[in-house]
Amino acid sequence: MDTPWQLQMLLQMLISWTLAANGHHKFVMLPKVVGGYSIAIEEVPFQISVRRRAMHEKAYGLGLICGGALISQRVACSAAHCYAVNNTYNPVRYYDPSMFVVVAGSTLIDQADRHTKEYLLQQIIAHKAYNASTLENDIALLFLNGYVSWRSRAVRAIPLSTKVLTEGTTCLINGWGKVTMVGKSASLQQAPVPILNKILCRAIYMLPVSQLCAGFMQGGIDACQGDSGGPLICDGQLAGIISWGVGCADPGFPGVYTNVSHYVDWIRTMNATLDYSKYWVMDSADLTSGAQRTWWLALAFLLIVIDCCGF
Ligand SMILES: *[C@@H]1O[C@H](CO)[C@@H](O)[C@H](O)[C@H]1NC(C)=O
Ligand SMILES: *[C@@H]1O[C@H](CO)[C@@H](O)[C@H](O)[C@H]1NC(C)=O
Ligand SMILES: *[C@@H]1O[C@H](CO)[C@@H](O)[C@H](O)[C@H]1NC(C)=O
Ligand SMILES: *[C@@H]1O[C@H](CO)[C@@H](O)[C@H](O)[C@H]1NC(C)=O
Repeated sequence: MDTPWQLQMLLQMLISWTLAANGHHKFVMLPKVVGGYSIAIEEVPFQISVRRRAMHEKAYGLGLICGGALISQRVACSAAHCYAVNNTYNPVRYYDPSMFVVVAGSTLIDQADRHTKEYLLQQIIAHKAYNASTLENDIALLFLNGYVSWRSRAVRAIPLSTKVLTEGTTCLINGWGKVTMVGKSASLQQAPVPILNKILCRAIYMLPVSQLCAGFMQGGIDACQGDSGGPLICDGQLAGIISWGVGCADPGFPGVYTNVSHYVDWIRTMNATLDYSKYWVMDSADLTSGAQRTWWLALAFLLIVIDCCGF
């Protein structure tokens, strides 16, 4: 590790230019919070986890795909890449919103308590210009199937950032993603990350103004897989969305975040298109009733048979 710092920087720039020039991020680990500490949900009550419904229904705590942040009573902000079917396919297709469950008010990923609230997704509004190769416009709104109650201290919205971030500001990231490159974390983790110099970041990753980077050039603390979509909190506001990085907490490669202040108008515009008069009722019997599931499976099977065999 005696390579001079400048030489390392130069090497990294060459590597990232090569990656960017070839238009792929194959080495990119989609985000974790590495190097953080445990916190209780009451300290970050806007933090949610998004889980794959099928796995979640089989075993509570499984199926974590991403994080997110509540920004109003029925809307959470997350990363578009979390919901894309095939991140290499163009145009990007998204999974059906019914495949996901949002869990709010929970510190532990695998245990619910009296503050825990679950919602289904009525709609996923991913940014139209989300680019799967550059991860530009990596933002999506999650429209919940019901109003979140603010009665519990464990569930709240976070205001959108209105401030211009200055280099060196210490922000916070949270998540249940990988704590090391190996396992996932059962308890919510938080880590402080400073906003890095824009010019340095652009030199490493060639970022547009819609993305920002934060972390430590020496590595050790970062977001990692499973944390994507989660908030970057600066001065109590939602300043960024965990988007991507190269590795997790690797020296020389800080995390990249969607710059939320760049998307405030987009968020307001998209929110205005949502139909707040509609919501499906989340029937928990529907989630757990084996009999009902068997019936639907039988119907689906019948439809497939009819479809395939020309009945
Ligand atoms: C994703 O899209 C690429 C490019 O069209 C295709 O080659 C690949 O097979 C797709 N993968 C899946 C899992 O659909
Ligand atoms: C994504 O960005 C790359 C690099 O700027 C560009 O070449 C490509 O056309 C973009 N893809 C889409 C779907 O806009
Ligand atoms: C984030 O976006 C805002 C609004 O477009 C812009 O003023 C700011 O400079 C951007 N931040 C970074 C770090 O690029
Ligand atoms: C979205 O619209 C609803 C209904 O008008 C409003 O109550 C809420 O504050 C808005 N949320 C955001 C994030 O703009």
